[in-house]
Amino acid sequence: MIHIKSMKEIEAMQQAGAITAYAHQVARRLIKPGISTNELDMAIQQAIESKGATPSFLDYRGYPASSCISLNDTVIHGIPSKQEILQEGDIVSIDIGVYFDGYHGDAARTYGVGQIAPEHQKLIDVTRQSFYEGLAFVQDGNRLGDVSSAIQRYVEQNQMSVVRMFTGHGVGKELHEDPAVPNYGPAGRGPKLEPNMVLAIEPMVNLGSHRVRVLGDEWTVKTTDGSFSAHYEHTVWVTPDGPVLLTAGDEDE
Ligand code: CO
Repeated sequence: MIHIKSMKEIEAMQQAGAITAYAHQVARRLIKPGISTNELDMAIQQAIESKGATPSFLDYRGYPASSCISLNDTVIHGIPSKQEILQEGDIVSIDIGVYFDGYHGDAARTYGVGQIAPEHQKLIDVTRQSFYEGLAFVQDGNRLGDVSSAIQRYVEQNQMSVVRMFTGHGVGKELHEDPAVPNYGPAGRGPKLEPNMVLAIEPMVNLGSHRVRVLGDEWTVKTTDGSFSAHYEHTVWVTPDGPVLLTAGDEDE
């Protein structure tokens, strides 16, 4: 069942979203060669807790950290580690969930570490833009498939592929609610979008094949062909006047 939020719930989600954006800002400023993914995770946890919120991911189905940090050919759900050190040329995806006043915010970004290869910068740019291509279809009365197909079309026009094994999702009292929000599939299908739905739209884009595999730690998701992958996500509030990004930070339009 898709939960339509009350305005009171939306107000709580605006706060959870703002803290999510703040934690991303803290993390983004720390990205440089030499920092460990564990240090990033600790800074993210502190940023969240400094606002009186808690990290949504910590202990979620046994997940052992406050954020997911996924380097290079890791698509999502990379577990932060003291042994994993950012190096010049890496790309790093950071996914953060924040629980505040009974509601979740969820957002992800991918950054380059120092100088990166032009094709990896293009991967990051296409992934981000694919989110905005989909967002343009978040309008009262459209169907979810309109959003999904716009994301897929843009990614494939750029000779990249969208991950199919994982999707976006509704978000609210639960981190993952109905509906699933695929980043592929036909337009004109799926549930109708209605005011006060809240969706986590999160394209995951691979430079090579769309295929992924889950490692033995039961979390880390990598591309099967070793190609690099990027991730971009916002928590999106559907309004009669179009979408509002609840997790928007300084650098988002
Ligand atoms: Co999500």
